[in-house]
Amino acid sequence: MERTFIMLKPDAVQRGLVGQVIARFEAKGCKLVGMKLMKVDRALAEQHYAEHKGKAFFEPTVNYIMSSPVVATVWEGKSVVAIARELMGSTNPAGANPGTIRGAYGMDISRNVIHGSDSVSSADREIALYFKTEEILEYDKAGQEWLS
Ligand code: PPS
Repeated sequence: MERTFIMLKPDAVQRGLVGQVIARFEAKGCKLVGMKLMKVDRALAEQHYAEHKGKAFFEPTVNYIMSSPVVATVWEGKSVVAIARELMGSTNPAGANPGTIRGAYGMDISRNVIHGSDSVSSADREIALYFKTEEILEYDKAGQEWLS
């Protein structure tokens, strides 16, 4: 089953939006298989945003992600990478549909509430960065038998 990595960024934690954001994924039907509140250190932050190294926003983004705890999560489901991207909305909240998470809760591209993997290969890489294999749980979710 496909998995994606979703991070509730420091602004989501600071603004008390964790429950509301998680609720959207649960309501959609995504299955939560990993979750932790954690501080991101510099090494992890730089690995996470490695593809943006050299861009003007790289250093501010690394510093921002280290500035306060984040909630790292892993979700499972059919086409969950694409579904999560739809739930999140555009990277820049200024252009995000108001029905999406960034459209509803964000104002600024550098404080955009949530990060989500942009492909299955990115998801595999990001999940491995943030989670040990044993921290991803396999279990049956009541009421979802009809999905398989
Ligand atoms: S881009 O423009 O294609 O490189 O954008 P993207 O790959 O979608 O994500 C860029 C991540 O960096 C964060 N960030 C910014 N992006 C663009 N411009 C500025 N000024 C900027 N500042 C921060 C942006 O929130 C994306 O973070 P993630 O965690 O990937 O959503």
